[in-house]
Amino acid sequence: MNPVKRIALVYTSKQRAQEVNSSRHPETLKSDDDEPPDLYSEYDTAETVSAVKKALSRQYEVTAIEGDESVFVNLRELKPDLVFNISEGFAGPNRESHVPIVCEMLGLRYTGSDGLTLGICLDKARTKEILTHHKIPNAKFTVWNAGDGDGKLKRFPLPAIVKPLREGSSTGIRNNSMVASVDALVERSAEIAGLYRQPVLIEEFLPGREFTLGFIGNAPDLEFLPLIEINHAVLPKGANPIYGYEAKWLWDDPADPLPMLICPAPVEPALLKKMRAMVSKAAQVLNIRDWCRADLRLDSAGAPRILELNPLPGILPDPRENSALPAAARAMGIAYDELILKVAKVAGERTSAAK
Ligand SMILES: Nc1ncnc2c1ncn2[C@@H]1O[C@H](COP(=O)(O)OP(=O)(O)OP(=O)(O)O)[C@@H](O)[C@H]1O
Ligand SMILES: [Mg+2]
Repeated sequence: MNPVKRIALVYTSKQRAQEVNSSRHPETLKSDDDEPPDLYSEYDTAETVSAVKKALSRQYEVTAIEGDESVFVNLRELKPDLVFNISEGFAGPNRESHVPIVCEMLGLRYTGSDGLTLGICLDKARTKEILTHHKIPNAKFTVWNAGDGDGKLKRFPLPAIVKPLREGSSTGIRNNSMVASVDALVERSAEIAGLYRQPVLIEEFLPGREFTLGFIGNAPDLEFLPLIEINHAVLPKGANPIYGYEAKWLWDDPADPLPMLICPAPVEPALLKKMRAMVSKAAQVLNIRDWCRADLRLDSAGAPRILELNPLPGILPDPRENSALPAAARAMGIAYDELILKVAKVAGERTSAAK
């Protein structure tokens, strides 16, 4: 297997995501004002693309490519030694799987999890079914579709949290996503289904401390980054204890950052060990590769449960943006460039060993 010299960085820019989405849904979106303001939170800014490119360029020859319809032809021509994949795709249940699947079809090596794993992890309910099968604790849940009627909602224990089934970066998760009455649950579920055009995930609200735990590597040899605690105490008075859209994108102003992340989190060694074991097992059963960030929260009995896993973790380069994985790496003395290069190295080694 060739040593990795030429890398294609494949991303999905906010601008392209917006163009593609608006052209596909002209019937529902009459103007930019009709779109929820967080619809494109997941997608890459020009700063992220250029920071990742700059990091990789320290050791490799790098070409950055938009992960749109042209990606197949561009990758086929370029034939890079490795694809560094940060592409979220545009729409659909398999949007995060598009680039890995193209790579698989072209026989290219790529960073991160395969299309199947990315598709499963994007669908939080599918993920939870697999976690539950393997006895990995997570929050009780149900999935609701527009038109289902409200019987299921009336029976769901409260308080609950309402989310789009397959989003990230807190898209569709707001301060009012935590609901304590059936009326609010019904109203919020209908609103989410309409705005984000997808099923709705309703989960029991876990009231305890919240953590996020990143790792690099491949099970069973995971290199855990320091644990981060989400500090709900700094949220504005009266806000629900949720690390949602307002906390990530409105109240946290890079000019005046909200100190939401405590790293390393002050926890008992036994709790840290437990969370690492849960995340390691989840990575194994879900076949997560190279890197990931898992979100966890304690239940009312103080026991940790997995909220979700992010096998394409957010990597905003500006430290003032509170991006969790780069923040955890910084806390152990790993700078942004080094973090990105580590992922490329781990993927290069894994894929060379695999062939
Ligand atoms: N079952 C739950 N109980 C309590 N709080 C929850 C629950 N699910 C989500 N939350 C809160 O909502 C936030 C966002 O939820 P979640 O991590 O599922 O969304 P996301 O958009 O995928 O996040 P990310 O930015 O990590 O991609 C969590 O960080 C947590 O504060
Ligand atoms: Mg999350």
